[in-house]
This record gives sequence, C-alpha cells and structure tokens, in this order.
Amino acid sequence: MDLTPTAQEGVTAAASTKAAPFLRDIWYFALLSRDLKPGKVINKTLLGEPIAFGRTEKGEIFALRDLCPHRGVPLSAGRIAGETVECPYHGWRFGADGGCRLIPSLVPDQEIDASRIRVRRYPVHEANGLVWIWMSADERFSGEPPEVPPKLALTPEQRPGLVERQLFPCPIDHAVVGLMDPAHGPFVHNIWWWRTSASIHAKAKNYGPSHRGFTMLPHPPSKNGGLYKLIGGKPITEIVFELPGLRYEIITAGKKRVFGFTACTPLTENETEVTQVFFWNIGWAGLLRPLLQPIARTFLGQDRRMVTYQAENLKYDPRLMLIRDADVPAMWYFRLKKEWAAAQAENRPFVNPVPTTTLRWRS
Ligand code: FES
Ligand SMILES: [Fe+2]
Repeated sequence: MDLTPTAQEGVTAAASTKAAPFLRDIWYFALLSRDLKPGKVINKTLLGEPIAFGRTEKGEIFALRDLCPHRGVPLSAGRIAGETVECPYHGWRFGADGGCRLIPSLVPDQEIDASRIRVRRYPVHEANGLVWIWMSADERFSGEPPEVPPKLALTPEQRPGLVERQLFPCPIDHAVVGLMDPAHGPFVHNIWWWRTSASIHAKAKNYGPSHRGFTMLPHPPSKNGGLYKLIGGKPITEIVFELPGLRYEIITAGKKRVFGFTACTPLTENETEVTQVFFWNIGWAGLLRPLLQPIARTFLGQDRRMVTYQAENLKYDPRLMLIRDADVPAMWYFRLKKEWAAAQAENRPFVNPVPTTTLRWRS
C-alpha cells in the first residue's frame, strides 16, 4: 500500500501490519552484554527463531540455532565446555562457528566426519555493553555480513548507565510507530512533571535523511519536557531513527552528553521487546539511578499500555490511518522498510526515500 500522503487528502490509510515480514539481512539489537555471563548459554527467540546465545570461558560470545541437529534438544539446556557448547542429551559439542567438535558415542572405527555436521551460526557483535545479531535471509549464510553493525556515537569504554526493558505484546511495526509518534506525548505521558495536555502547542521540526533512516535535526528540546531541565545548561537534542527499529536521542549541554538508545526487537510476530539504555558522561548522574529507574519504567510502561489496548483490537483487522504531519515519520518508516526489502530482493543499493523537510504539529 502506498503511504505517500497527498496535500489534498492529508489522510492515508496505514498498511495493516498483518503478515508484515521481518526485515532480513540487517543487524538487530539482541541483548545486553550483562545477560551473557562467561561459561553460560541462554535461549532467546528472535524473529521467531530459537537462538542459543553463549559466552565461552574466554569471554567470546556466539549465537547458534538453539536446536541440536542430532535430535532437536535446545543447546541452551546444555552447558559451556571450554570453547564449545555441549548438548545435554548425548553430549555432542559445537564450536562458536556452529561446527560439531565431538560425538562422545563414537568408538575409534566409527567414521563420522563430525566437522560436516553443523548448526546454524549467527554473526554477533558486542560493543558498549550491547550485543547485535545479523539476521540473514539465507539460513545457510556463513561468513561475514556485508554490512557493519550500527555505530553509536559513544566512546568505546562507555557502558549503560540505566536500562529499562519491556515486552510489548504487539508486532514490531506498532512498537516502532508508537515510539516515533510525536502526538501521543501529552495524552499518554500526561504526568505533572513531564507534560500535560494543557501545555500543547504548535511545533515545527526539521528532518533529513540519514543512514537507513532519518534525523530530526538538532534543536532545543521541547520546553514542556520537564526531564530535560535536569541536565541543566542549554540542551540541544538530536533524534535519529534507523532501520530495523532503532532510535537514538543525543542530548548535549556543553560538555555534558546523554545518549538515549531505544531498540525494538521482534521476538515473534506479535511480541516485541523494547529496550531503552541511557549512556552519559555526567559523573553525578549515576547517583540519580534510583530516581531515574522508576521514571523510565513508568514512561515505557505508558507506551506499553497503549499498544496493549491496541493489540486487543487488531484482531478485528481494522483499517488504520496515518495523518499529516504528526504521522509522517511513521509513513517514512513504512517506506524505508519497503525500500530496504526491495533493494535486497533486486540486489541493488538501498536508496533512502526520506526527503529533507519540515514537519509541523501540535503536541
Ligand atoms: S540431541 Fe543433541 S546430542 Fe543428541
Ligand atoms: Fe511514548
């Protein structure tokens, strides 16, 4: 469905997210470094695929299909043995590259070339306490992904200052659209210390295309956004969206810098994990964690509440709307997705469809 608004109409029916395939051949945020303890292996379903994430004793992380090729038992139910993961059923061992290293039941004259037995291996990347995974379209894909993992505007030693993670009972599209929607703030996040519906006023923001997405160009943050006052100085904020469902908010005030990272990661078609991580270079900000944590939880919980209501009604398969200008970022998201999939299918470079423009709305 074409989501391009026309000046005359100003209203477009939104694509039903039913049967929206997941984007492939792209890096997804998978989990936090701290979820993977050395010598441990855990299960996590991503894009409907069971994945065993592990960290060897040496600290190397890996991701394998969480299904033993022998008789299907999850490898995550097993254990780490040196640089391999051992299946709990018959003790077959697999290396981080997915190759079988050991079949304990074999006697010396039983010739099975174990190295030809493989379990699917997913490329992973770890930086700044975040773990990324390459989800290829081709399940036999091995080797290095053609794209580098997202590079965040952080110094290499920066680690999460605050993390809030919630499971949204909805398809990734609704989680992403909710996240980039500027018009819900005064209603959904209607709390005295943030903003109230009485504080609504007209806004104009400049946007331009950026890597696999778009950027709301640097501007002083909304005067009715109370939390920004905490940072002090004259903060400037820049908000970036990047496929498949990543949002970065960079707030700078002099030398002080807060980097807000949000990732929507589809676990299944109807479950999306939303992870918010805040990084900062402000020494005293860590002291505020006991105060900030419940605020972050409340905030994200308010968004979650809306998509939970919404998900109840999606079973009626309604036709939904996207209107100018408040929903234009959502229209861009659908166009970006479509173009990403088309570029993959046609084996050509991705052409960013987002224009440089100003959007106006009241919030
Ligand atoms: S099922 Fe995994 S070793 Fe047999
Ligand atoms: Fe929100």
